[in-house]
Amino acid sequence: MPRSFDGLRVVAFEARRSSEIGGLIERLGGRVTMAPALREVPLDCSPEADRLAEDLLAGRVDMLVLLTGVGTRQLLALMGRDHPREGLLAALQRIRIVARGPKPTAALREWHLAPTLTALEPNTSEEVLVAIDTAGSVRGKHIAIQEYGESNLELADALRQRGAEVSSVRVYSWALPEDLGPLQVAIREVASGEADVVAFTTGQQVRNVLEVARQIGAEAELRQALSRTLIGSIGPTCTAALRELGLGVDFEPDRGRMTDLVQGLARSAKPLLARKRASADVDIDTSTARRVDLIWPATSQPDPLQHSVFLRACRREPVDYTPIWIMRQAGRFLREYRELRAKRSFLELCKTPELAAEATLMAVDRLDVDAAIIFSDILLIAEPLGLGLSFDAGEGPRIHRPLRGRQDVDQLPEAAPAESLGFVCEAIRMTRRALRPDVPLIGFCGAPFTVASYLIEGKGSRNFVQTKSLMYRDPTAWHALMEKLSRSLASYLNEQIAAGASAVQLFDSWVGCLNVADYRTFSLPYTKALVAAIRPGVPVIYFAGETAVLLEAMRETGASVIGLDWRVDLAEAWARLGEGVAVQGNLDPVALFASTSVIQRRATAILDAVAGRSGHIFNLGHGVLPETPVDHVLALVDAVHDYRRP
Ligand code: CP3
Repeated sequence: MPRSFDGLRVVAFEARRSSEIGGLIERLGGRVTMAPALREVPLDCSPEADRLAEDLLAGRVDMLVLLTGVGTRQLLALMGRDHPREGLLAALQRIRIVARGPKPTAALREWHLAPTLTALEPNTSEEVLVAIDTAGSVRGKHIAIQEYGESNLELADALRQRGAEVSSVRVYSWALPEDLGPLQVAIREVASGEADVVAFTTGQQVRNVLEVARQIGAEAELRQALSRTLIGSIGPTCTAALRELGLGVDFEPDRGRMTDLVQGLARSAKPLLARKRASADVDIDTSTARRVDLIWPATSQPDPLQHSVFLRACRREPVDYTPIWIMRQAGRFLREYRELRAKRSFLELCKTPELAAEATLMAVDRLDVDAAIIFSDILLIAEPLGLGLSFDAGEGPRIHRPLRGRQDVDQLPEAAPAESLGFVCEAIRMTRRALRPDVPLIGFCGAPFTVASYLIEGKGSRNFVQTKSLMYRDPTAWHALMEKLSRSLASYLNEQIAAGASAVQLFDSWVGCLNVADYRTFSLPYTKALVAAIRPGVPVIYFAGETAVLLEAMRETGASVIGLDWRVDLAEAWARLGEGVAVQGNLDPVALFASTSVIQRRATAILDAVAGRSGHIFNLGHGVLPETPVDHVLALVDAVHDYRRP
């Protein structure tokens, strides 16, 4: 799996840090053309700086945020032109000054000023915000931000969300470079289709590139070529500029750092480019297409899905490397997911097939994992069962009319709810069309016990008092419920398979609250029946949490793969499960909060314990947590893919 540009031609338009970026692209295997696309011109008059000076002198400013050294000097000079320096100095000493890093601090020193707060490395707006937050609430405060380059919308928005009044003070304007030669050469290179990747680091670069292309009569050609060239954007402002000008964005890093942009592009350029070009070949408009509309190049290999490492491992066939996917991989730990989710509720995402497909696909694109899992939830089945469902912010899921006794169970619809969850199957169909042909899609549902306990408790539970009360007090009602659920869930999974799921997983998150005897009496028969009803030949993964004592009984479900939580030793658990079954797991999700070297060590320990046996799928021992750093997940995926047996 190449994690470098591997000889791709990369054109970057950054001016200020041109040699640094160029060097990095080269080190990552790119053939680079650096073409600075703009020149910063200090403003010699700025109404915004004058206004700030007046506000400062009148005591109307509470905080000044300084983002660059040159900008700080320029701002102080602009304000000092028409306003008394002593007055400004005194005013600045009375307010909080936030410096993004050492350069604005050095510039302040020239005026014998020091920042009240300094952001930590790597000095992005995130650290600036953290520094501001340590000093207490900004509600109702007036904050001025010295802008450099593009307006820092993210920072301003975040401060406004905290209740501050924010004003931006620009101190530069932008012009074309004095010598347009190198830029014209680069534009011709891109326009003639020689470039594979272009990297933009400000929105103004985009405007300037198009402007110069127009001047040399190459705009149409450039746009045409860009529909087959990978476009990287440093961050949201730059992305907005690209979109406004009718260009698509293929990659944007989580943090607006140039190294993240270049490294991220290096990692995913090859596959993303293959997809973009294959899509353009069949006249898909790649600048406006949704992710679900893009297609992959056809492979020459027959049946790439069945030959995938993931399905081979499910069948316990030998593989070249251990496949990995991550439970809850499409979720809040991904910036792309949070962006998608910001505008809609979780249920809306689940019920809109193209959005569910998009969430499914973004995880695979981003994480380089060997399987996709359809974006959905184990509790959706509550709606067609007529019990009502909502996910309230901060409260988790809630069933509106929980089952409390035999009467409720008897009234539960007998019919399979599959047709009312048609949106899940539609999402599966859309995802399957847009997934790389050798990446299997996993369908899923909750196992009968876990679904039953949710339907009975109505929400998450610690002791499962309602569930077990029904189970112990009225076993007949319990068995009737489990039988109904088992049948409904089986037909639901078979629908998912018919729609394009290549494997299915049963989540039995809560069954670990039972002892072995109760597990065998009240849960196992129904999971077993469910597994037996799944279309033959489709691997069934059975995952349950806190199940160290249940393993032997879990094996009796007949599932082809057993998902292990992180509390059990993998080798020991597999020995207890015996021959003829594959295993999935089982890194502690919290290990992903450790350093990447610890993550690598722990992943290696699990792979060592497998000792070359066929039939291991790497995963976490439970879902990935929302706060997990994405880089750490990537480090895990790489460690698993790169592992070679000692
Ligand atoms: O793995 C994937 O990426 C596929 C999608 C998936 C979700 N939930 C999406 C989701 C899967 C496989 C699940 C399974 C699930 N859902 C389980 C079993 C696995 C486990 O974690 O034990 C359970 C118990 C649920 C029920 C559920 N859904 C809870 C308790 C919650 C709220 C808690 C939480 O994590 O927020 C959900 C919501 C949920 N399901 C989210 C996602 C992405 C978060 C929704 C949001 O964006 O706010």
